[in-house]
Amino acid sequence: MIMNSSMLQLVFATNNQHKVDEMRTAIGNFIGIMGLKESGLNFEIPEPHNTLEKNALEKSRTVYVATGKNCFSEDTGLAVHFLNGEPGVRSARYAGPGSSAAANIDRLLRQMADSRNRDAEFRTVISLILEGNEFIFHGICPGSITRQPRGNAGFGYDPVFVPNGADKTFAEMSPEEKNIFSHRRKAADELVRFLQITHGKN
Ligand code: IMP
Repeated sequence: MIMNSSMLQLVFATNNQHKVDEMRTAIGNFIGIMGLKESGLNFEIPEPHNTLEKNALEKSRTVYVATGKNCFSEDTGLAVHFLNGEPGVRSARYAGPGSSAAANIDRLLRQMADSRNRDAEFRTVISLILEGNEFIFHGICPGSITRQPRGNAGFGYDPVFVPNGADKTFAEMSPEEKNIFSHRRKAADELVRFLQITHGKN
């Protein structure tokens, strides 16, 4: 990415290149974003807590303490109504520690096999640390869980999630289409609005 020197630069506390790409699509040219690998940082950040907020904060604090740089993190969970909000904060490891996206989807579809209620939502929390101060932003995407995976794009639960107002799963959409509906984009919009105010740019 070409960055202009007056642009605000933030380290994005993630090793997930899909998330970096989605954030760049969501945020555009207003802020320069560097993932951990691009920043030369080589560590995995744990997600030990029982809320998205606490995990997001843990990630951004870890990077801030290590680098002293302005940074943000995000934590996302899929909340399924029939499963009382599960897998939620355990979305990444729903089928067990280190489980693949395919295994998580497989478990989800089996857990929901008897359910006609397919309602679910993605929830994203962004934690920003700017000049040592902490801020939180939220984004929600309501939708439903399909009975079979569809599509090859995206990551995680994208093949089984259809956002309200669409008839395709996220995995059947281009990045730009996913961005119209995405929880991550909505949280990113909040982040950008905040930075536009605090940094006086538009
Ligand atoms: P985390 O935010 O990296 O902890 O992600 C939690 C889990 O949700 C992981 O299994 C991700 O693959 C999944 N996930 C996060 N964001 C998305 C998304 O936008 N689409 C589909 N799955 C996602």
